[in-house]
Amino acid sequence: MDAGGHPGVRVPEFAPVVSGDSSTQSFPMLISENILAALNEQVGNEFSAFLQYTAIAAHFDRETLPLLAAHFYRQAEEEKQHAHKFIKFIVDTSGKLAIPAIRRRRIRFNLPRTPCGSRSSRRRR
Ligand SMILES: [Fe+2]
Repeated sequence: MDAGGHPGVRVPEFAPVVSGDSSTQSFPMLISENILAALNEQVGNEFSAFLQYTAIAAHFDRETLPLLAAHFYRQAEEEKQHAHKFIKFIVDTSGKLAIPAIRRRRIRFNLPRTPCGSRSSRRRR
């Protein structure tokens, strides 16, 4: 599978979570353990945003609002690309990628009311 926006770069279908002692790696890490931890946390934040935007896009898709759905699918893709940029930086500095668990979030959608109000409120007038 080619990575979107990265011609010639191949990414595995399944990216395993890697963690462990960085002292066993063959190349010295070019960043501190604290920076590595912060970068790995940010990778999780970016993937979390990707999932939230995907859920929003799917909601609008189901509501047959294709333009809104497309907007949020694009936003989701952008967040995924952010995660990949952080991952590339981690790898380029010989850090070990440790994607944190993504917390499950319940996303509720409250659709905005129309300017004219609901049908039942118009009938009461
Ligand atoms: Fe982002």
